[in-house]
Amino acid sequence: KQSAVIAPSILSADFARLGEDTQAVLDAGGDWVHFDVMDNHYVPNLTFGPMICKALRNYGITAPIDVHLMVEPVDELALAFAGAGASGISFHPEATRHVDRTISLIKEAGCKAGVVLNPATPLDSISCLLGKIDMILLMSVNPGFGGQKFIPYVMDKIRQARAIIDDTGRDVRLQVDGGVDVDNIGELWEAGCDTFVSGSAIFGSGDYARTIARMNAEIDS
Ligand code: DX5
Ligand code: ZN
Repeated sequence: KQSAVIAPSILSADFARLGEDTQAVLDAGGDWVHFDVMDNHYVPNLTFGPMICKALRNYGITAPIDVHLMVEPVDELALAFAGAGASGISFHPEATRHVDRTISLIKEAGCKAGVVLNPATPLDSISCLLGKIDMILLMSVNPGFGGQKFIPYVMDKIRQARAIIDDTGRDVRLQVDGGVDVDNIGELWEAGCDTFVSGSAIFGSGDYARTIARMNAEIDS
């Protein structure tokens, strides 16, 4: 397992002050910026695209930008994000016709590549890809909205994914996204996650630094 990463989801940031609020959550101890891209097609909600990613880079955000594409199709937007300063790009395999090609495109564009599994999508579906991807993202809510409750059966899937990754001997990150908070992050770390997306639990708390410090304390203990 790799060292823990907290990736605050700026889906829950103040969009009217996005640069400042993103910098604030990084100053408070966030490691990566989790950037949720929704297209009102693959998911029933609409957020932001590559121009906003580029604007954050121009504003001076230097932390890794972890783009989570909830869009269909994937390839063209993935390339646009690579050009807009994304560090890693994750996509839902069912949203692209040729999954292996999409991974190659992302990597050739110089970004880390991740695949995202919805809560009910089996791990078997990505067994061929384990030698090629940099991250598996397990959704612990149905994608589309922040502030939902963690779906309990995903905990077992996390344990299985950890075992599968360990078998490969490769450094593949295991990220969890949805309903992550101070109360469950310790259990998620124990189960094998190393990369934690959290939106409402951080941005909805009055004190980002305190919340992130409490999350890190749960991981250390
Ligand atoms: C949901 C997004 C998540 C979301 C998580 O589709 O992928 O990243 O922002 O939000 P919370 O932490 O509030 O569940
Ligand atoms: Zn996300």
